Amino acid sequence: MPDTLTITDNRTGKSYEVDITHDTIRAMDLRKIKVHDDDFGMMVYDPGYLNTTLCKSTVTYIDGDKGILEYRGYPIEQLAEKCDFQEVAYLLMYGELPNQSQLDEWVHSLKMHTMVHENIKEQMAAFRYDAHAMGMFTSTVASLSTFYPEAKQVHCAENRMLQCQRLIAKVPTLAAYAYRHSQGQPYNYPKNDLSYTENFLHMMFKMSDNPYHPDPALVRALDVLFILHADHEQNCSTSVMRAIGSSDADPYSALSGAAGALYGPLHGGANEAVLNMLNEIGDVKNVRDYVAKCKDGEHRLMGFGHRVYKNYDPRARIVKQCADEVFQVTGRNPLLDIALELEKIALEDEYFVKRKLYPNVDFYSGLIYQAIGLPVTMFPVMFAIPRAVGWLAQWQEMMEDEERRIQRPRQIYLGQRERTLVPIEKR
Ligand code: ACO
Repeated sequence: MPDTLTITDNRTGKSYEVDITHDTIRAMDLRKIKVHDDDFGMMVYDPGYLNTTLCKSTVTYIDGDKGILEYRGYPIEQLAEKCDFQEVAYLLMYGELPNQSQLDEWVHSLKMHTMVHENIKEQMAAFRYDAHAMGMFTSTVASLSTFYPEAKQVHCAENRMLQCQRLIAKVPTLAAYAYRHSQGQPYNYPKNDLSYTENFLHMMFKMSDNPYHPDPALVRALDVLFILHADHEQNCSTSVMRAIGSSDADPYSALSGAAGALYGPLHGGANEAVLNMLNEIGDVKNVRDYVAKCKDGEHRLMGFGHRVYKNYDPRARIVKQCADEVFQVTGRNPLLDIALELEKIALEDEYFVKRKLYPNVDFYSGLIYQAIGLPVTMFPVMFAIPRAVGWLAQWQEMMEDEERRIQRPRQIYLGQRERTLVPIEKR
């Protein structure tokens, strides 16, 4: 059986054969389908990229119908159970799990880059007291490109990896600075004898000279959350990372843009929106009414639904377990009862069942962040820190892809043409 697709154009009666590779046809092969020789040729129309593959990738595999997520072939459940975040970061960046000496070297190289230039403090100070943490985060990530002008040399593999290490090491520092600014508290410098997540908690919460020792259960929970959020193949923010990177922009500028895409409530900003929604519902007895309003199209049930998962998001299942462990330390978040009731009612309701809308990763993560003591404005930042690794792994993959071209979509132009300009006094 040939791996080809035969297309008949009923406008002309002509048939065309296009090659199929990996169950995919090349959009450019459609351009030979024309009515007249001077036609532009057939294109595909796909707003929101519902069925368009952007690249070939070996980073992350998702089977949305079965609820499977793997990084470099390893199931997310195993990684969350057996690894720490830095090990998973290595896996995503290099394609293989590290042995002990590779891991030691990797951890050391990240620790060497946790500090940010002192001028960043002045940038932070320039933000208003109530500036959203994500705005401060995306701006200061972008500004890092001015401190490392050599980052522009994106065709040098060694230089690229150095910038990746810098970014992975510095994003927790920027996030913690943004938080401390919003609290009116002095910044804590990174403490390099701590693990990635311990150091982050230290920079966030250490007060004055008092010793700060985060509960190991919280450190572990944060590691698990960071692992779950580290990559998710070609989503909205990752495709922005690739789009900006495709113009050979430096990775700081690209990552800042990706973080901007993540900020939206339909994407990584959903964890913040979920908490606001749970607060708005206020009581378990109001859940049924709220769900009814979702069905009437008055609002969406935040933290529910996914473009790819048409089954329970495997990350949501792990986050739910993680929440139980965190609440044993912090005490139960009272909003949990509302969330559980919401999930129960939605999973039984025909509207949600028919559309295959299940809780996604953001449904329970906010409850944990809140229990750890974070304000809701920090929630998208908590997503951006680990996702920086995924964005960079995908950016590296793209930079090494021989088929890489600057991203430049087409459009169907339906506007007016060849109009004659009327001078302003005659309009
Ligand atoms: N609540 C109520 N209805 C929903 C929801 C929801 N959360 N999500 C989808 N639907 C309905 C839509 O109204 C639509 O119904 P219709 O067929 O009657 O018109 C149908 O389900 C399909 O929805 P689409 O918007 O076409 O699905 P799409 O794949 O474009 O959107 C998205 C996916 C953006 C995640 C959507 O489900 C949503 O808005 N969810 C809430 C926000 C959220 O939690 N985002 C986080 C996603 S995970 C992440 O990015 C990390």
